Amino acid sequence: MSTLKSILVALIAMTSITSAIAQEQNAALETIHARKSVRTYTNEPVSQEQVETLLRAAMAAPSGMNLQPWRFVVITDEATKEKLAGGFNKMIAKAPVAIVVCGKTTRAMGGENRNWTADCAAATENLLLAAEAIGLGAVWTACYPYEDRMNPAIEALGLPEDVKPYCIVPVGHPGGKEKPKDKWKPENIHYNKW
Ligand SMILES: Cc1cc2nc3c(=O)[nH]c(=O)nc-3n(C[C@H](O)[C@H](O)[C@H](O)COP(=O)(O)O)c2cc1C
Repeated sequence: MSTLKSILVALIAMTSITSAIAQEQNAALETIHARKSVRTYTNEPVSQEQVETLLRAAMAAPSGMNLQPWRFVVITDEATKEKLAGGFNKMIAKAPVAIVVCGKTTRAMGGENRNWTADCAAATENLLLAAEAIGLGAVWTACYPYEDRMNPAIEALGLPEDVKPYCIVPVGHPGGKEKPKDKWKPENIHYNKW
């Protein structure tokens, strides 16, 4: 190996070690890397204060033109949770709380808001990270764009015509030992050109 190549390899290795150390020392990065989908919950309730912490984090997300099209329906009612729980998200019925992240698809001045799904996704990720940060467990379960998943939520929650259920996030105290997955794949990165 040429000297230059050896230096480059050493530099890349050092950068990688430095970012791994930063990950361990920074609270935000630590939470990001500790987050995992949690699908089993204990019977311990989730407090109103905790729910508000999650919703404050969700609403801190970025959104196109800062339109903040997200709307949230917090479900604690057992019968409603049962109505929302299907094969793909049956854990909703077992979670103390389920938060339905909805998106307003129209703008106040009229017309479509084409960013609503991206905005709701950003809010959902913030919510999941906040749950991890305060010791709760949660999982993103899809609604939009699947009609068969959206319709039960539209009906059960009585959503207006221009508000769509984007996803449902059951939240509780973790009942299992789910671990975060290592998804770091340098081969998925391209520099300057594909
Ligand atoms: C758009 C989206 C839809 C998802 N839908 C479901 C779902 O319907 N049911 C479910 O159990 N998990 C669902 N998940 C969670 C993924 O299965 C999970 O994020 C993925 O397996 C990676 O695992 P991790 O979250 O532990 O890193 C969804 C995640 C995303 C981002």
